Amino acid sequence: MPVKHIRVGIVSIGFSLAIIGTMSLKATPAADETYSIEEIMEYNHSGKKALTNKVTLAVQAGKWDEALPAAKKMKLLGAALGKNPCPSGDASSWEKLTMRYAEHTAAIAAAVEKKDAKLATAAIATLKQSCKTCHDAHR
Ligand code: HEC
Repeated sequence: MPVKHIRVGIVSIGFSLAIIGTMSLKATPAADETYSIEEIMEYNHSGKKALTNKVTLAVQAGKWDEALPAAKKMKLLGAALGKNPCPSGDASSWEKLTMRYAEHTAAIAAAVEKKDAKLATAAIATLKQSCKTCHDAHR
C-alpha cells in the first residue's frame, strides 16, 4: 500500500521529466548549443510543424507574437548550420552557402521584427530558392 503509492509516484515523476525533457528539446534551441545539420533541417524545414511553415502562416495571419519567436529560432539555427563541418562536396562552397543560409534566416527574423509582411514573405521565398543549390552540392 504505501510502497505501492511511492512507486506510482516515482514512475509518474519520471514520466513527467521525460515529457518536459522532450518538450524543451523541441521548444527552445539555445544559442550556446550546437546543432547537427539534420537537427537544423528538421527544426526549420521538416513537415507542417517546421519553423518556416509556422512563420509563414503566422505572418499571413498577422500573428506577430507567434511569428517572432519562431523566426528568432530560425535565425539562431541558421547561424548554427555553418558550425558543422562540410558533410560532402567542396568545403569553400559549404562555407559560402551556409553563410548565405545564416543571412537568409536573419533577414526573415529582421522583417518579422519590423512586422513587415511583404518583406518577410519575400525573405522566406528567397530562403526557399536556396535549398536545391546546397542539397545538390552537399547533401
Ligand atoms: C547550406 C546548405 C543547405 C541549405 C541552404 C538547405 N539545406 Fe537542407 N540539408 C542540407 C544537408 C547537408 C542535408 C543532409 C543532412 C544529412 O542527412 O546529413 C540536408 C537535409 C535536409 C532535409 C532532411 C533532414 C533529415 O531529417 O535528414 C530536409 C527536410 C531539408 N534539408 C530541407 C531543406 C529546405 C526545405 C531548405 C530550403 C528552405 C534547405 N533544406 C536548405 C543542407 C542545406
